[in-house]
Amino acid sequence: MSELVHVHPTPSALAAAVADALVARLLQVQGQGRVPSVVLTGGSVSREVHRALRDRGTAVDWSKVEVWWGDERYVARDSEDRNAGQARADLLDHVPVDAVRVHEMPADDGAHPSLDAAAASYDAELKRAVVGRSPWFDVVMLGIGPDGHCASLFPGFPQVHAAEAVVAVEDSPKPPPRRVSLGMSALGNTGEVWFVAAGAEKAPAVAASRAGGDVDLTPAAQPRGLDRTVWWLDEAAQG
Ligand code: 6PG
Repeated sequence: MSELVHVHPTPSALAAAVADALVARLLQVQGQGRVPSVVLTGGSVSREVHRALRDRGTAVDWSKVEVWWGDERYVARDSEDRNAGQARADLLDHVPVDAVRVHEMPADDGAHPSLDAAAASYDAELKRAVVGRSPWFDVVMLGIGPDGHCASLFPGFPQVHAAEAVVAVEDSPKPPPRRVSLGMSALGNTGEVWFVAAGAEKAPAVAASRAGGDVDLTPAAQPRGLDRTVWWLDEAAQG
């Protein structure tokens, strides 16, 4: 498994580079006759990446891309806080995706009796869809918080060690508090993990992620791709 670091001068240059690389990766997988499976992340940097992807049009056959999320805020489906809503506004509503292949995480809309049940429902959807796929995903994209979290796996939280593919988080230190997240076993069930981070406040967490240190201190230290792990950084996040 290789590890690569790409550094770009600004967040917008970083987003453009990540978008170019993701287009290339999706086309490569489609060129192999497979349907690529990508896990999107939330956060401000990923919004820039999604907009850059939208601007690259339909070189990718978006109707043959499986879209998942690494985590989601458990709020109303139309809340501005929803990672999926932001991804739709920035990208997915602008490219011809197949709705059946866009797998939003549950919303707090009464469909599930509890947050745990919502997490379990996404686990079941994931397990149905990935039957016969090894690994499950081609690219897992992850932001990194200043505290070293990734997805909704936060320092000192038991979910960091959960065996489940999908976990519920009731008290996220990053608002909103209630979230559904892929667990570490799912985040690592991928050919490639791509961390995307910008800003000086991320530099210590990026360094700890790259060092592969204590996962209880830096959850982003654990996810690695089976083939490759890439840190996509701007100069400020490189430290
Ligand atoms: C979320 C994200 C979260 C995010 C990081 C980085 O739902 O909040 O998935 O893990 O990726 O907090 O966010 P920024 O890129 O906005 O710093």
